[in-house]
Amino acid sequence: MFLRKILRVAKHSFLAAILIVGFVRSAMIQAAPTGERLRVLADRIGFLIGFASANDFWNLSDAATYQEVARAEFNILTPENAMKWDAIHPQQNTYNFSQADRHVQFAQENGMQVHGHTLVWHNQNPSWLTSGSWTEATLTSVLYDHIDTVMGHYRGQILVWDVVNEAFNEDGSYRASLWYNIIGPEYIELAFRRARAADPSAKLIYNDYNIETINSKSNAVYNMVADFVSRGVPIDGVGFQMHLTSGGLDYNSFAQNMQRFANLGLEIYITEMDVRYNLPVSQTDLQNQATIYRNIIDRCLAQPACKALQTWGFTDKYSWVPNTFSGQGAALIFDENYNPKPAYYALQAALMAAQGTPAATATRTPTRTNTPAGPTATPTRTPTRTNTPAAPTATPTRTNTPTSGGACAVDYVIQNDWGSGATVNVTIRNNSSTAINGWTLAWTFPGNQQISHMWSATYTQSGQNVSASNLSWNAVIPANGGTVNFGFNLSYSGTNAVPSSFTLNGVVCGGGVAPTATNTAAVPTATATRTPTRTNTPTGPTATPTRTPTRTNTPVAPTATSTRTNTPLAPTATPTPGAAACSVNYAVRNDWGSGATVDVTIRNNSSTAINGWTLAWAFPGNQQISHMWSATYTQSGQNVTASNLSWNAVIPANGGTVVFGFNLTYSGTNAVPTAFTLNGAACSLP
Ligand code: XIL
Repeated sequence: MFLRKILRVAKHSFLAAILIVGFVRSAMIQAAPTGERLRVLADRIGFLIGFASANDFWNLSDAATYQEVARAEFNILTPENAMKWDAIHPQQNTYNFSQADRHVQFAQENGMQVHGHTLVWHNQNPSWLTSGSWTEATLTSVLYDHIDTVMGHYRGQILVWDVVNEAFNEDGSYRASLWYNIIGPEYIELAFRRARAADPSAKLIYNDYNIETINSKSNAVYNMVADFVSRGVPIDGVGFQMHLTSGGLDYNSFAQNMQRFANLGLEIYITEMDVRYNLPVSQTDLQNQATIYRNIIDRCLAQPACKALQTWGFTDKYSWVPNTFSGQGAALIFDENYNPKPAYYALQAALMAAQGTPAATATRTPTRTNTPAGPTATPTRTPTRTNTPAAPTATPTRTNTPTSGGACAVDYVIQNDWGSGATVNVTIRNNSSTAINGWTLAWTFPGNQQISHMWSATYTQSGQNVSASNLSWNAVIPANGGTVNFGFNLSYSGTNAVPSSFTLNGVVCGGGVAPTATNTAAVPTATATRTPTRTNTPTGPTATPTRTPTRTNTPVAPTATSTRTNTPLAPTATPTPGAAACSVNYAVRNDWGSGATVDVTIRNNSSTAINGWTLAWAFPGNQQISHMWSATYTQSGQNVTASNLSWNAVIPANGGTVVFGFNLTYSGTNAVPTAFTLNGAACSLP
């Protein structure tokens, strides 16, 4: 219409030619979608619909169009690269927030949430980090500094953080990243605990690709997060990246997989969706792509724990796909000219359909899209006393004697000591009748002990003096015998003597977490002694009884020789051994000459699930296990048995797997065991 009007008014003139060219060009670039925008539909049902925001998007040649579409369509964004280590932490002592701040500012100006990506990953790390020579202790402190600084900078402004990204291999074993190789698999738990303390308002998730359906990798993630939930390691959800190809995925398996994570009380975020095709794409490809987007969002909207769907970019013009997967692209919901594609309308239709289903939306927690104005002044009120307190009428007299431990008791237990270092577990008990909120325990090491790494508390050590303080999630020690625990590793030379006194918030504690008496038992004044005295002499045997058996009957002589009346059958076939019901993959992940980290995957090849398992093997050399995770073990000489924990007792039928791991020390060579039995039956090797 408009075009025709211009033609009519300015026909034949030079000005008209310029106007027409200009208009036609902008009409090609952006055809606004019909219908309500995605974020309007999503806001109404408390759903998050989002995108990854491109590097320096404010400098793009079409920055205005980019921002116009982004702010119209989405209520959450993830900076695509700006919060990764190489961007935000370019030198060990330099943080650069200038880029990331612009993404956060754009979100806030447009009432969008921010999804932080990512605090721990094996990619896009600066060279000072990847080529540094770290120990477990120094790398852990670098990790903590990063989490504290980056999360602290944005505290209260990030809805959800990808704490750890892509920590597993496709077979469910841990990826041998810098973090894993130096710190061990505990780096994941340490990062989550630290992240909770750094920004308690952020949701913390584990993010990965190819974990959308039930498979070896998602099983490993499930086992890890189930363990976290059962032990109280802080985690709020799981991110499914959802980088798909034209094959889509098995939607029922996707729904079942979401359900098992939801059953743990966790949220699910679709964090990086795109669906890539070989270029050029056909109309049929675009229709198939729309169907895949629709199937994914429909399953997500039907699952109350699924909170968000974010695409990795939004226009095909700035997608990572063509740069990463040669010859492929067209993976997003707007084409290169910002025209909405069939996939856009598929998401729109699904969100429209969800508007009419209050049951599905009733359980969602609405998310805040604006920031309430803070109070402009702090009200002050000075209380005035109107009555005079009565003077005390009696002097309280003590009727019991305080227990030796005073208001607190400390149990310092060396759990494991290997001559040059040890693992220590400390329990603090609150004997008083009021809860303690916020604690610092201080002590002095008797020798030259040096803490290398502490969990469930933060610490400072100066010479022999240590103070350990609570994290946010364990600040409170309940009254009347409530306890908290924390632990640490230390190294030492000489002897590892135990500290002899502790103060809690400045007050001396007693040792031992024994129940405290409320009164004092009378102290015995004399020790009763009783030495039994013999008054008679036992009489010894006077003779040794002898008894010679005498035969009274004569044994009957054999009367006949039995003869074989049939011929034994010759074997008719040689039995062939069947395929083993289990197979074991013993993978040495990291070997430093005197020790190693090993991942073991057990696969159930049978058609019935295994409930409860013990894997046994013999080490070929002098290997000694020092620490095992995801299983308990016994080792006697070279023989080891490892058994399930409660959360990974079941190995599903038909190829289900469980994974556990351990550290070992050895001298000589670290040869791999050659035979394993599972619940007594031999397993095959891969
Ligand atoms: C990609 C970015 O899109 C690219 O621009 C960058 O060059 C490489 O990383 N999984 C993730 C994302 O978690 O961080 C990745 O992002 C894509 C795969």
